[in-house]
Amino acid sequence: MSLKNTYILGIESSCDDTAAAVLYNGKILSNVIATQEIHQSYGGVVPELASRAHQQNIVPVVDQALQKAGISQTDLDAVAFTQGPGLMGSLLVGTSFAKSLAYGLDIPLIDVNHMQAHILTHFIEEEGYIKPRFPFIAMTISGGHTQIVRVNDYFKMTVIGETIDDAVGEAFDKSGKILGLGYPAGPEIDKLAKLGNSKAFKFTKPKVDGLNFSFSGLKTAILYFIKKQIKENPQFIKENLNDICASIQYTIVEILMDKLKLAVSETGINQIAIGGGVSANSGIRKALKLAESQYGWTTYLPAFEFTTDNAAMIAIVGYLKFQNKNYADQSIMASARLKI
Ligand code: KG4
Ligand code: ZN
Repeated sequence: MSLKNTYILGIESSCDDTAAAVLYNGKILSNVIATQEIHQSYGGVVPELASRAHQQNIVPVVDQALQKAGISQTDLDAVAFTQGPGLMGSLLVGTSFAKSLAYGLDIPLIDVNHMQAHILTHFIEEEGYIKPRFPFIAMTISGGHTQIVRVNDYFKMTVIGETIDDAVGEAFDKSGKILGLGYPAGPEIDKLAKLGNSKAFKFTKPKVDGLNFSFSGLKTAILYFIKKQIKENPQFIKENLNDICASIQYTIVEILMDKLKLAVSETGINQIAIGGGVSANSGIRKALKLAESQYGWTTYLPAFEFTTDNAAMIAIVGYLKFQNKNYADQSIMASARLKI
C-alpha cells in the first residue's frame, strides 16, 4: 500500500551526528547531517559535548532540510525521530524537539528504532536500487553495534547474533588510536589498507560460539603486537603502517564473513544486506560481492550516504509506520537501550 503525497521529516540524534531529512513518498528530498567535529580532539564521542552540540544544531539542521526539500513545516504529514538506542542526552534533544514540533503542527509523531532504521534504509526509493526481499539477513556494523538480524518483514526482526563486548567500529577506531590515527579511524584504516599487504601480519581471530562476536581480544592482541615491535624498532608503525592497516582490516573482514557464512548455513537464507558505518568499508564490500559468485548469495550494499548515521533512514521507517498509522503517543520517552 502506498499513500499519495506524504511528506515525512526524519530526525536523528542518537550519537554524534545531528541529522534531518525529508522524504516524499519514500524518496529523498533532502538529507542533512551536521557531524560534530568537537569529538575528534578527544579520540572518541564525549556524551556531554554531544548533547550540547545537538541542542545547538537541531533547529538549523531541520530548517536546512525543509529548505532543501523546498517545503515548509506545514506541508509535513508526520515527524519521525530516533527513540533509541543511543546516548541518553543526545536522544533527549531529538525526542523533545520532535515531540514539540509534531504537537505544534498537530501531526502524527512516529518513534523509530535506530537499529531497525539501519536495516530499513534499504527501502528508500532510489532509481536503479533493487530492494531486498523477505526474508533476508541483515548485518548491522557500526561504532556502537554489531548484530546479525533475521528480517522476516519490515517490523518482524530477530537478532540472531551480536557482539559480547566491543562493536566492530570500535575495533577499527581503537586499533587506529594505537597506531596514532585520528578519530574515527575506520575510514583512514580502509584507505591505508588499500596500499598494504593484508597477509603481512597475522592476528588471531576470536573464538566465540554461534553467531556472536567479540572484538576486545583483537584490540588487545594488536596493542601487544605493536608494543613488542616498537621495542625492537621504534619506527615500526611508520615503516609498516599500510601493511598493519591491511592486516587488521583483513582479519576483521574475515571475522564478519565467517559469521555470515554460519548465519547462511543455519537459516538457509542467502540474501544478505548490510548497514551501519562500517558497511562503507571497501574490504567487506569486496568480500560480499565476491560471495555472490563464490557462494551464490545476493547482497545488498547501501549507498555511502546511508551507511553512517543519517536521518533519511529514520524518515523511511517513519514512512513505513505512517502507512499503518503506527504512531507514538506524546508521553513517549527516549530509550538508551532500546532493543530491536
Ligand atoms: O553508523 P555510524 O556512523 O555510527 C554509529 O552508530 O556508531 O558508524 C561509525 C563507525 C565508526 O566506528 C567508523 O570508524 C566506522 O563506522 N567507519 C568505517 C568506515 N567508515 C566508517 N569503518 C571501516 N571502514 C570504513 N570505510
Ligand atoms: Zn548507527
